[in-house]
Amino acid sequence: MSDNNTRRPVLYSGIQPSGRIHLGNYAGPMQNFLLLEKDYDCLFCVVDLHALTIRNTPADLRRQTMELAALYIASGLDPKQSIIYCQSHVPEHAELAWVLNCYTYMGELSRMTQFKDKSSRHKDNINAGLFTYPTLMAADILLYQTDVVPVGADQKQHLEITRDIAERVNALYGDVFRVPEPYIPKTTAKIMSLTEPERKMSKSDEEDSFVAVLDAPDVIRRKFKRAVTDSLAEVRYDPENQPGVSNLLAILSATSGTGIETLVNEMAGQGYGILKERTTEAVIERLKPLQAEYARLMKDKVYLNEVLKDNAQRASALAQRTLRKLYKKIGLYQL
Ligand code: TRP
Repeated sequence: MSDNNTRRPVLYSGIQPSGRIHLGNYAGPMQNFLLLEKDYDCLFCVVDLHALTIRNTPADLRRQTMELAALYIASGLDPKQSIIYCQSHVPEHAELAWVLNCYTYMGELSRMTQFKDKSSRHKDNINAGLFTYPTLMAADILLYQTDVVPVGADQKQHLEITRDIAERVNALYGDVFRVPEPYIPKTTAKIMSLTEPERKMSKSDEEDSFVAVLDAPDVIRRKFKRAVTDSLAEVRYDPENQPGVSNLLAILSATSGTGIETLVNEMAGQGYGILKERTTEAVIERLKPLQAEYARLMKDKVYLNEVLKDNAQRASALAQRTLRKLYKKIGLYQL
């Protein structure tokens, strides 16, 4: 992170440590992070406090948190430059979330579609944390005077409420928070399910529908063998009429770096066998360095913990600046 005179725009992203990272996350958002790191001061957060809003097995949560942190680093992000850290290691997140709760209305939170959706799916556990999830997310973002937040469609509403809260506080007390903008990536591959290619690839669907980035080569081979195609027997990019084949092309293009049009020309008149084979091998090849680096990191917990500790301290120092400014402005007695 740079000092004030050379301030680069700040980018914030959080991923929940719930379940496995798959090609859809990796080929899209995570690959893009590598490019963004060149132009932005980035924070990549493992949002473990958010994960508490649904029930977890403690050992799983702990392991998945560690794994996600290692994956961020293994993907090539530089933890000396970008701040890669765990949310619960920086207490300012929970502190700011409390204050923001006092500037957020029940009505606003009740309108959040993710809350409505999650509370209807987990009827036995509609907890207050699920309800105030967006204020914790707003705290994540606002603590660091964030300029941009890469968001998919499902998180747009949460960024909107973050902006509303920031503007509300600013209107009351003068400039406290930078009001963040959504970052819409220019070109990200949209990776669909292998078994139902009309739907986005999702870790909550059946195992064969997604390729986890840590899947072993033989698992990846099996999954692509079972991937849905069609009976038109022509390699064409036509997501509407040939969603399965188009998805394979998109995956091959994203992992090999070759444009879809070139690929289609290369495979004109050939069957789907070759498309599947090339896609499989491109994915395995692409994931190889990531998996190797990941394995290396997981064997070196001392290094990994050092990185996380160091980065939590860097985050905390930045967060405290915002928190102090806010506390002063809203009338909390300062020592
Ligand atoms: N709510 C986000 C999701 O489920 C995760 C998240 C938490 C986040 N805090 C964030 C994303 C801050 C961006 C910025 O995907």
